[in-house]
Amino acid sequence: MNKITQLFGIKYPIIQGGMIWNSGYKLASAVSNAGGLGLIGAGSMYPEVLREHIQKCKKATDKPFGVNVPMLYPNIEEIIKIIVEEGVKIVFTSAGNPKIWTGFLKEKGITVVHVVSSSKFALKAQEAGVDAIVAEGFEAGGHNGREETTTLTLIPMVKENISIPLIAAGGIASGRGMLAVMVLGADGVQIGSRFAASVESSAHDNFKKTIIEVKEGDTQLTLKELAPVRLIKNKFYNDIQDLYAKCPSPEELKILLGRARAKKGMFEGDLVEGELEIGQIAGIIHDIKPVSDIINTMILEYRSAVTEMQSMAI
Ligand SMILES: Cc1cc2nc3c(=O)[nH]c(=O)nc-3n(C[C@H](O)[C@H](O)[C@H](O)COP(=O)(O)O)c2cc1C
Repeated sequence: MNKITQLFGIKYPIIQGGMIWNSGYKLASAVSNAGGLGLIGAGSMYPEVLREHIQKCKKATDKPFGVNVPMLYPNIEEIIKIIVEEGVKIVFTSAGNPKIWTGFLKEKGITVVHVVSSSKFALKAQEAGVDAIVAEGFEAGGHNGREETTTLTLIPMVKENISIPLIAAGGIASGRGMLAVMVLGADGVQIGSRFAASVESSAHDNFKKTIIEVKEGDTQLTLKELAPVRLIKNKFYNDIQDLYAKCPSPEELKILLGRARAKKGMFEGDLVEGELEIGQIAGIIHDIKPVSDIINTMILEYRSAVTEMQSMAI
C-alpha cells in the first residue's frame, strides 16, 4: 500500500491519464480491471456522451475509476452536473483554475486531483483543497506547460513544495520509468502515451500505428500562444511552422487550428491534416498491446528494476 493506492482503493499506483479521443470507457475500465486507475476523458465528449461512457464503465468494471475534466473546453457546468448525478467518485481536473470546482466536488464527497506543470500551480492546487497533484513534465503528450520543465526536474521541485500525495506524469512508459520518478519523490504515476497505443484506446488505428513508428525527435511542443501542445511533426504541424515564419497573430493561429483538428487526426485517422498528440516517450513504444499486458509488464519490470538497484548500493 502507498499513498496513491490507498487514496483511490487500487492495486498499483498507475493512473491512465484522461486523453481526448483516446480514453473512453473501454480504456478506462480495462485499466481499472488491471489494477490501475482508469480515467474517462471528458474533454472530447458532449455531456450526454460522457453520461453514456460513465454508465458503460460502471458495467464494465467493479473497480474504482474516474473522469478527467480539462477546464479549457466548453460545457463544464453540465459535465460536472453529470459526474455528480452519476455518482462518480474520482475527478481529475486539468487546464484551468483548481479553485473553481474543487470545493464543490469535495462537498459532494468526490476525491479531486488537479494536473499542474509547475510548483507554483501545485501549491495553488494544494491551497484549493485537492487530494493529490499530478505534476506533468514537458515530455508529456497533449497540452503542456509553457515553461518546458522536464519531469526529472519538476518532480523533486514540486515534492519540496507540497505535502499531499504526488503523481508524476510525462515520459513514463515502462516499469523503469515508473521506478525513476518514485525515487524522485512521486507516490504514483500518470501515463498517457503508452495507453494511447493500446488495443482498448478509442483512437483510430492509423494513429495507433503512427505512435509505434514515432522516434526520438519526432514530436514538438507548439502553439504556445494558444494552449501549448506536443504534436507529431506531420503536415498539419509543418503548416503551423510555416505560419510562424510569418509572425502570425494568435487569431491567425486560431484560424489555422480551426475546429476538430484533434478529432480529425486521432479519432478519424487523418494523419496529414489532423492534430496528432503524443509524448516524447513514444520513441520506446513499439507495439499496440492490450492494457492488461501493458500493466503486467510494467509491474514485472518495476520489480526487477528494484532488485537490480539493490546491487547498485554504494
Ligand atoms: C493523445 C493525448 C490526449 C491527451 N488529452 C488529455 C486530456 O484530455 N486531459 C488531460 O488532462 N490530459 C491529457 N493528456 C495528457 C495525459 O493525461 C497524460 O498526463 C500525459 O500523456 C502523460 O505523459 P505521457 O504521454 O508521456 O505518458 C493527453 C495526452 C495524450 C497523449
